[in-house]
Amino acid sequence: MVSRVIPVDPFDLVIFGGTGDLARRKILPGLFRRYCANQIPTSARIIGVARTQLDKKAYRILVRDSIIEFSGNHKVNKKYLETFLLMLVYKKVDAQGEEGWAELKDLVRKDVVNAYYLSVGPGLFGEIASRLKQWDIATVESRVVIEKPFGRDLSSAKKLNAVLSTHFSENQIYRIDHYLGKETVQNLMAVRFGNLLFEPLWNSQYVDHIQITVAETVGVGGRGAYYDKSGAMRDMVQNHLMQLLCLIAMEPPSQFNPDSVRDEKLKVIRALAGVKSHHIVRGQYDSTKTEQSYRQDVENPRSFTESYVAIKTEINNWRWAGVPFYLRTGKKLKTRSSEIAIVFKKLPHSIFEQDGEKKQNILAIQLQPNEGMTLDVTIKEPGPGGMRLIHVPLDMTFAEALGDHVEDNPDAYERLIMDVIRGNQTLFMRGDEVEAAWTWTDPIIKTWESRHDVPKLYEVGSVGPEDAMALIRRDDRVWRDLK
Ligand code: BG6
Repeated sequence: MVSRVIPVDPFDLVIFGGTGDLARRKILPGLFRRYCANQIPTSARIIGVARTQLDKKAYRILVRDSIIEFSGNHKVNKKYLETFLLMLVYKKVDAQGEEGWAELKDLVRKDVVNAYYLSVGPGLFGEIASRLKQWDIATVESRVVIEKPFGRDLSSAKKLNAVLSTHFSENQIYRIDHYLGKETVQNLMAVRFGNLLFEPLWNSQYVDHIQITVAETVGVGGRGAYYDKSGAMRDMVQNHLMQLLCLIAMEPPSQFNPDSVRDEKLKVIRALAGVKSHHIVRGQYDSTKTEQSYRQDVENPRSFTESYVAIKTEINNWRWAGVPFYLRTGKKLKTRSSEIAIVFKKLPHSIFEQDGEKKQNILAIQLQPNEGMTLDVTIKEPGPGGMRLIHVPLDMTFAEALGDHVEDNPDAYERLIMDVIRGNQTLFMRGDEVEAAWTWTDPIIKTWESRHDVPKLYEVGSVGPEDAMALIRRDDRVWRDLK
């Protein structure tokens, strides 16, 4: 297959938190894969920064081991790995003190793209941004990449935006939501705006409801302390699920450029209806004979934090008035499955007599684990026996249709880092978008907190709390199976 990868310009990428978990698991293995795909020139430099005292050699060994450990199914080409490691430099810098900044300034080249990835705790975002300017390291051309969580409520997000904007202009700030870097998430836009077929049906006249599911089998892992202060609403809904909802619901932008796309997404968030308390279910996973409960995992026997949320909401605009959007996400569920399902309305009138005729068309976009789309349609059952109808999914699983191309897919982080280097902000959240998302989420969380809301328990390995099933059943609908 002919490679369609376009190499990026030489760059210096400084990773604050260069020895941390995200750098070792995602950022560095991702950069290595892009290097193997010949997208990164050997003149690029990756500068790991952290508090630990390490020399260049020790850092390269750490990165080599991380790439080998976290490359998953991808075979690590040892020859490429050795040359990739030569691009790495390490600098000990005290993010809150003065140590190391002068040397960092000398290290970063001003005549190539330079980007600063803040893969550190949110408490350090502002501090590092200020020091980058104070030490005259970052220029007006530099890019700064901010990991989530971007604030924990509207007021902290506003403060963070304010600090960042005193040092950088909006077109230099790349707020990461890694869901936007997923292949199928981008495909959502291609499907909607690259085909004539769906767009005429994409509205309240033809759509009965929409379901967005992000189900995980993993629990909180080693992140219990962070997660217990956040919960699923802050950790998943405020960012990943809302971004998916925006892409599904937004109006066609006039062009595929960062601000046109983000303007349309922002309008969706602003049009979201406030959620009534009986339209939301919080859950927390409970132990089984073999599995620990959430409270045991986070070592907090009195935790009321939710590891599951189901929400029914609506978008108050012309296109979507009256169409329910059901969102759910949870940890330690039966299967790992992220899916968006557009469930179309029933036929207004059927000329057939049997049961099958009232089935609804469903366009299901599977994000993970297997990327693809299915469109449920009614057809005649092949063979004799009269007009018998069956409902079948037209399977458009990308792995089958696209063969080799699927192997080529960069993971979300790879794609997003390359976008930073290319200077393309389309898949990054703008400051006003993040604030609008918190504006919607804040009252929900505040109500729970003021009422000391107790989450409903669900067993590890189940499909979620019973109340979440009832939430949608009350509307005569059902959640899609977690396959
Ligand atoms: C992260 C959340 O942003 O996304 C995690 O903090 C969650 O709690 C993860 O597990 C899910 O990402 P993915 O790509 O595995 O679906």
